[in-house]
This record gives sequence, C-alpha cells and structure tokens, in this order.
Amino acid sequence: MKLAGKVAIITGGSRGIGKATAKLFVKEGANVTITSKDPKRLQDAVKEIGNVFSVSGDIRNESDVQNVVKETLEKFGKIDILVNNAGIFPHVKPLHKILEKEWNEVIDVNLTGQFRFTKAVIPHMEKNGGCIINVSSDAGLKAFENFEADAYTASKGALVLLTKAWAIEYAKWKIRVNCVCPGMVETDMTKPYLSTESDRDMAISEHPIGRIGTPEDVAKAILYFASDDSSWVTGAVLPLDGGMAAR
Ligand SMILES: NC(=O)c1ccc[n+]([C@@H]2O[C@H](COP(=O)([O-])OP(=O)(O)OC[C@H]3O[C@@H](n4cnc5c(N)ncnc54)[C@H](OP(=O)(O)O)[C@@H]3O)[C@@H](O)[C@H]2O)c1
Repeated sequence: MKLAGKVAIITGGSRGIGKATAKLFVKEGANVTITSKDPKRLQDAVKEIGNVFSVSGDIRNESDVQNVVKETLEKFGKIDILVNNAGIFPHVKPLHKILEKEWNEVIDVNLTGQFRFTKAVIPHMEKNGGCIINVSSDAGLKAFENFEADAYTASKGALVLLTKAWAIEYAKWKIRVNCVCPGMVETDMTKPYLSTESDRDMAISEHPIGRIGTPEDVAKAILYFASDDSSWVTGAVLPLDGGMAAR
C-alpha cells in the first residue's frame, strides 16, 4: 500500500475526480477526509467510498476551510497530503460579456479556495513535510479556440505557476508541491458538453490518443505525486490528456 499511515484532505471529494482519488487513496491505506459544499452529496460519497471521514464546507469561506483542517487534525492527529481539487466551470461566454460577479466567483472557488486550503495546512506540514497536489487543467497550459471560459483559464494558469512558486517556497520544509493538468474528463462538470454523439466525437477527436479521460486516470497520477514514488519530484506540472497539450 503506497499511502499506509498517511492522512489526506481531498477537496471536492463528493464527485468526479475528487471522489475517484478518495477511493484510490483509501485503497492504498490512507486516512482520508473528503470535503465539499453540498452535505447530502458528500454523505452519498461517504456511503459509496466507505471508511472515509467527511466535513462539509464552502471553499469560499475561510472559517469553513479552517474547520475542515481542525476536524481532520482532531480525527487523525496530522495532515500529510492536500489535494486541491474543488472547482467550478463557468457559463461559457466571450470575455466582454462576463459580469464581474461571475468572474469573481470562479476565481474565488478555483484559485482563492486553493490558497485558503494551502495556507491552512502548511503550518501542520512544517515538522514532518508533506505533499500538495494542485488540480489545474490543460486550460491552464494553453489557449483553446472557442473555449470562452476566461476566468477558468486564469484560475488554472495561476495554479500552474503557483505550484512552482510553492514548491520552491516550501522545499525547505520538505513539502512537495506538484500539479496535474487533465484534458477532458467525463464528470458532472463536462456532462453538458458530452450530451450528443457529435459533441462526444468532437471531444474525442481533440485527444490524440483517441479517448477522453476517466476520473481514475487522474486519480492514479495524483496518487503518484502523493506517494514516495515521487519523493524527488516537486514543482512538476503533468498534462494528463491523451496528448492534447502536445499539439
Ligand atoms: N472534468 C474535466 O474535464 C476536468 C478537466 C480539467 C480539470 N478539471 C478540474 O478537476 C477538478 C474536479 O473536477 P470534476 O470534473 O471532478 O468536477 P465535479 O464533478 O463538478 O466536482 C466538483 C467538486 O468541487 C466541489 N465544489 C464546487 N464548488 C465548491 C465550493 N464552493 N466549496 C466546496 N466545494 C466545492 C463540488 O462539491 P459539491 O458536490 O458540493 O458541489 C464537487 O465535489 C476541478 O478543479 C476541475 O476544474 C476537470
């Protein structure tokens, strides 16, 4: 087991990539806290995963974030791993039509939320080190025609560079910080863009390997960054996209 005795917090653990990561981490021996906003969906995930601790909270609220960390420490006594995964995707529209309120909400969840969690766990990693894995996106690596999700692009691009900045900043405390950049993964987030056969064919055609991703594809890479298999890796940014970013 690659994570025996480790304690992990996974944000956005109620669904999609976060839930698949929680399942894999539990299988690999970790004590896992999943957190997300909707308590009912979070409870459903707990039932499905089994043997997982949960604390609901809104990542936009600093005291909710601190409460997740506090309850995890009370339950397990330490934090070794943080997976910054929670995220939202905005209504697609050109930049000049985005309301400032819409822009701010995406930045608040996808970027400031990751700042809040990282800030809250770092002091607890000072003594024994730790691993932080940021879930960015191919949209944080390159621009896509007709993507029209500018606040999302800004949040994900910032996470790529913050991964490197935090890796350098906290190497002295043996905290490793790495980042995964998925292409299109089949989850609730992408459902609206995969509803017809032709949408699906178009999405597949953008990925040279000939398929879109599964949440498990991403979970396996997050496990690599969370485990000692990557003990010499920090500040790395890994596209997981069937070759899309290589085009
Ligand atoms: N799917 C893709 O194609 C894809 C591609 C690249 C990157 N990503 C990134 O991967 C991550 C996970 O995406 P996914 O596809 O698994 O999405 P998803 O199925 O929509 O799940 C999103 C998760 O984030 C949580 N969340 C959203 N707003 C929150 C808030 N204000 N406070 C706390 N939790 C909140 C949700 O909780 P609730 O259930 O409570 O709403 C849910 O657990 C995101 O950062 C996304 O940007 C996804």
